[in-house]
Amino acid sequence: MGKRESFQDLPLTPPKAGEELWRWLYGQLRGAILDRRLRPGTRVPSSRSLAKQYNIARGTVVAAFDHLKSEGYIQTQVGAGAFVATTMPDDSIAVARSHVDLRKRTAHAGLSSRGRASVESVLLLPASHSVGKAFRPWEPAIDLFPVNLWSRIAARVLRRAPRSLYGQGDAKGYLPLRKAIAEYVGGARGVHCDADQVIITSGAQQALDLVSRLLLDPGDRVWVEDPGYPGAVFALKAAGARITPVPVDQEGLEVEWGRRHAPHGKLAYVTPANQFPLGTAMSLERRLSLLNWAAGEGSWIIEDEYDAEYRYFARPLAALQSLDRSECVVYVGTFTKMLFNSLRLGFLVLPSRLVDPFAAARSFTDRHPPTLDQAILAEFILEGHFGHHVRRMRQAYAERMSVLADAANRRLSGLLEVGCAASGVRTLGWLKTNERDTEVAGRARLHGLELAALSQFTLRHSQPAALILGFAGCNVDELRRGVDVLATVLGA
Ligand SMILES: Cc1ncc(COP(=O)(O)O)c(C=O)c1O
Repeated sequence: MGKRESFQDLPLTPPKAGEELWRWLYGQLRGAILDRRLRPGTRVPSSRSLAKQYNIARGTVVAAFDHLKSEGYIQTQVGAGAFVATTMPDDSIAVARSHVDLRKRTAHAGLSSRGRASVESVLLLPASHSVGKAFRPWEPAIDLFPVNLWSRIAARVLRRAPRSLYGQGDAKGYLPLRKAIAEYVGGARGVHCDADQVIITSGAQQALDLVSRLLLDPGDRVWVEDPGYPGAVFALKAAGARITPVPVDQEGLEVEWGRRHAPHGKLAYVTPANQFPLGTAMSLERRLSLLNWAAGEGSWIIEDEYDAEYRYFARPLAALQSLDRSECVVYVGTFTKMLFNSLRLGFLVLPSRLVDPFAAARSFTDRHPPTLDQAILAEFILEGHFGHHVRRMRQAYAERMSVLADAANRRLSGLLEVGCAASGVRTLGWLKTNERDTEVAGRARLHGLELAALSQFTLRHSQPAALILGFAGCNVDELRRGVDVLATVLGA
């Protein structure tokens, strides 16, 4: 733990060129609070004295403090002034601190400039110490996962597996699993492929990392959806890509905007079935237009279908890959949302010419995912349990979502408007209170809720203020209780 500091003797790193001063001061103080260099209970001096000491306008200090107060880092007591908050829940500190620690370690770890640039802006997801926490946006229904069935299959696979499965595995992945996946994505998503084009990865994230490293050169221009999925942006940036955030509307990525502003992009990353985080589906017209652009430019498209099967009102459009005539689409799928997070198994469906280079790249990274886990998943799919589970979850999630929307719209009317998602494991609550969504999300975290603010996922093009509410991972009682807490947070 660092040395105890007061506001007056806190060393501050100078602002970056162009950085707003209040935002800089807010960031410095927030970092010091999360680092515990400013300890809980430390008295906050007057804005006048700090303005004088830091040699900045008093209004700048007030703006930074207002922000810290609204997010709960600073508390006020009538008659006693302001103090660094004493009650911050572990998880929210853990997420924020991992970020702060990462930057600190980055500075002294002797990393290359490429290494530093790759990790500096990354946010680590905290490990789950519980399930059912409202409104954790990244979790499926772990409470409903058929653990007994899974463990019976696992025991059987481990007992009967030939000894060869304990030896070196295939860099592309376990063949029966690749066959099962090719059949599943062909039937359910219209993806044209055979098992040879499927490579098993450690979740979607490794797939995004491999694609970024193997298809991009440093400095290549890349289109990403704005708002969009940070996991993809981190991987693309780590490969040295220059990011062009392309706005998204009701029909998905605005392809014409991309053509106008960055016509020669080398790659576009999209989530057409369920746009992350807006939840819209890309229209057929936009799909065709994106494919046309990629074919004309010789560019790649990453199609990330992380939870396409959870569609509540209508059948999803077939995958973009099914319309691809020029073999430019790399399809990414994952079982982490369909089954459970820690499984960490996902897959790539590649144009044939990419299969061997990708398999070769596996051999000098992780070689292959654990074969026995792949064999368990293969059995689970081949015996029909996967299809059954997805159908069961679709019903359960539809129920959970409508409970959340009903409870929220009853308790939070005029403050938060919660819509029903057309697909996926989360929905959006549009704020009607004129507050910043990050402020509300920060306050909610201090009350023990786990939710995200839409603006955390915007890069350049702003969106109305909204909260991202996961509903799949909580049962109906947890959701109702979560809405009660949110009512307190919003002052209902
Ligand atoms: C857009 C998107 N892609 C992929 C994933 C899943 O990635 P992984 O399989 O690495 O857990 C997520 C998870 O939230 C996501 O939102």
